[in-house]
Amino acid sequence: MNSPLFLLLVSALTAQASGFIADSARGERLFETLACIQCHSINGKGGTIGPDLGVLIDRGFTPASLAATMWNHAPGMWAAMRGRQIAVGDLDQQAAQDLMAFFYAARFFEKPGDAGRGKRAFQSDGCSGCHSLPVSQWQGLTDPIDLIDAMWNHRSQMLAATASKGVKFPLLSAQDLTDMLVYLRNLPGTREQPAIFRIETADSNETVFQSAGCAKCHQTVAALALSVQGKTLTEIAAEMWNHAPRMAAAGAPAVPLAPGQMRDLLSAFWTAKFFEGAGRPASGSRVFASKKCTFCHNDASSGAPRLPAQGRDFSGATMVSALWRHGPSMLDQMKTKGLAWPRFDGAQMADLIAYLNSK
Ligand code: HEC
Ligand code: HEC
Ligand code: HEC
Ligand code: HEC
Repeated sequence: MNSPLFLLLVSALTAQASGFIADSARGERLFETLACIQCHSINGKGGTIGPDLGVLIDRGFTPASLAATMWNHAPGMWAAMRGRQIAVGDLDQQAAQDLMAFFYAARFFEKPGDAGRGKRAFQSDGCSGCHSLPVSQWQGLTDPIDLIDAMWNHRSQMLAATASKGVKFPLLSAQDLTDMLVYLRNLPGTREQPAIFRIETADSNETVFQSAGCAKCHQTVAALALSVQGKTLTEIAAEMWNHAPRMAAAGAPAVPLAPGQMRDLLSAFWTAKFFEGAGRPASGSRVFASKKCTFCHNDASSGAPRLPAQGRDFSGATMVSALWRHGPSMLDQMKTKGLAWPRFDGAQMADLIAYLNSK
């Protein structure tokens, strides 16, 4: 059974099963069914024991640092839940991914911006020359992937407009675009609109990569994935806009992408690395030992599965699911063994995820 062919088959199957599908609308519903809403509110309804998680604020989290925050506050949370007779519901891998999507839509993973600076940039970069306010019909304000689509698809209009006026094409930094979004999102009319994040990873999407012309300048989907590791979608949207002068210089045609193609491309080159984080396996191995995870996970008699385990893909979402499903019994075992509950910072969690993915 242990033939190389069999192993190859198994790894092909697990690679296929590792597609990342996440939907913020489902995540928002889980927020209610998993009783998070008893302590946290979203859109003005719910408990006040924990922070309001629906408010659209740029919190600058990464999926790993969010998972770390949840690990750190879990024992306190379970105790508070017991005290109020709130049952800890099941949070499987898919549910954790949907929650991450909900957090993405709520701008947990965006870097902080400044509305005043955004207002000035919107005018000085010439956006207001074509776009009159309010821009409440912009889908790009509620869905970060639509924003990328828009920035890519209409960059050549902008290039033509700047050329006819004899002005320079305004390159955008990630901070410029973040500031603009904070400004535009908080105008009356847009503020009330629900945010959306939805992604579905199918395959490497080499075909779209070729047909969209990306392959002319970028080597492979995998190489692009490596270069955007850890970047947010706003950072990528700014990059897509900045392609205009590069594309014009290279004489590349300005064909807009068909609906859905940008979503496919992004899921191929961005999703997995973003939710996994950019950790270092060697440091993660030290975290695993120093937080005493080896105490049980290297000792079969403890009943804990051996980690790292082959064929598993860990991400910030996996760590949240593992915490929710196994945490309470881990905590009980740790108490009887006199071990303290492990706490992490975001970098340690990212390293740990990289280590768990290293087999
Ligand atoms: C019994 C009350 C309670 C329940 C139930 C609860 N939380 Fe919390 N949560 C808190 C408290 C209190 C904090 C703040 C703790 C801290 O700052 O250390 C918090 C913090 C958080 C944070 C960090 C927010 C930030 O901006 O720092 C996240 C994310 C979070 N909870 C997610 C969840 C999710 C997802 C669920 C449901 C699966 C949930 N919580 C259920 C009480 C709760
Ligand atoms: C030369 C005119 C022009 C300028 C200048 C311009 N845009 Fe646009 N923009 C358009 C047109 C036309 C559309 C709609 C057509 C399309 O979807 O491609 C559009 C669409 C958009 C959309 C998509 C809206 C939606 O439906 O979701 C966004 C986002 C956007 N622009 C952002 C910007 C930003 C940010 C700037 C400044 C850096 C800017 N635009 C400058 C002409 C312009
Ligand atoms: C005409 C050449 C050209 C084409 C075609 C092109 N790009 Fe680029 N792209 C560049 C250059 C040049 C950079 C800047 C590279 C750098 O900073 O290292 C870049 C940067 C990027 C970045 C940011 C990378 C990073 O390291 O931050 C992304 C994402 C990206 N391109 C995606 C795409 C996608 C998706 C397509 C196809 C739809 C595409 N590009 C087509 C030339 C091109
Ligand atoms: C006191 C024993 C003990 C310690 C210490 C411990 N664990 Fe666990 N862990 C368990 C047990 C038991 C399970 C399985 C629980 C179950 O099936 O409900 C588990 C399950 C897990 C899982 C889920 C594995 C899977 O295949 O889904 C992960 C991930 C995990 N632990 C990570 C850690 C990390 C990271 C640490 C160190 C910070 C740690 N554990 C420390 C006992 C422990």
